Amino acid sequence: MISIKSSREIELMRATSKLAAQTLEYIEPFVVPGVSTEELNLLCHDYITKNGAYPSPLNYHGFPKSVCTSLNEVICHGIPAKTDILKDGDILNIDVTTYLNKFHGDTNKTFLVGNVSAEVKKLVEITYLCMREGIKTVRPGGHIGDIGAIIQEIAYSFGYSVVEDYCGHGIGREFHEAPQVVHVGKKGTGAEMKPGMTFTIEPMINIGAKEGKLLKDGWTVVTRDKKWSAQFEHTILVTPTGHEILTLRSDEIT
Ligand code: MF3
Ligand code: CO
Ligand code: CO
Repeated sequence: MISIKSSREIELMRATSKLAAQTLEYIEPFVVPGVSTEELNLLCHDYITKNGAYPSPLNYHGFPKSVCTSLNEVICHGIPAKTDILKDGDILNIDVTTYLNKFHGDTNKTFLVGNVSAEVKKLVEITYLCMREGIKTVRPGGHIGDIGAIIQEIAYSFGYSVVEDYCGHGIGREFHEAPQVVHVGKKGTGAEMKPGMTFTIEPMINIGAKEGKLLKDGWTVVTRDKKWSAQFEHTILVTPTGHEILTLRSDEIT
């Protein structure tokens, strides 16, 4: 069952989502060569808690840190570590989820670290485009399958693959709610979008093959072929006329 948020609940979704977006804005200047992903984790943790919220990933099914940090060939759910030091040319996804006033807001961004190769920069730009074009399909009467259909079309046209083992999700009082938002699909299929639904769109796009492998830490998912992967995520509200990006940052266009 897909929950429909009341106007009061939508206000709370706006507040938690705004804090998640602001956490990504806050961390941006620290994402430079020489910093460890654990330092970034601590900075995000302090920012979130000082703003009266709880970092949803911390202890979520035993996840040990406050944000996910996914570097280069890591598809998702990377665990921050003191020994993971950023270097020039890396790409790092930081995935922030905040729990404020009983509601979750979830967003992530892939940062370029120093000078990134043209091939990888292209991957990151197209992954962002995939997310934005997926978001554009969101409106009452639309279907969840419309999102994956456009993402798949764009990614494949550049020779990239789309990760299918992990997907977007409804969000609200729970971190992960119905529906599942798969990033491949067919237009007109899946649940119908209705005003008051809130869900994430978070495509993971790979230069190589779509297959991932879970590392022995039980969380980190890397590409099987070790080629690099990028991701962007926003929390979206279906409005009576279309949609609202609840986690939009000031560095993005509306
Ligand atoms: N934030 C991730 C998502 O977009 C989920 C992370 S689960 C964790 O759904 F346990 F790894 F934090
Ligand atoms: Co998510
Ligand atoms: Co997330």
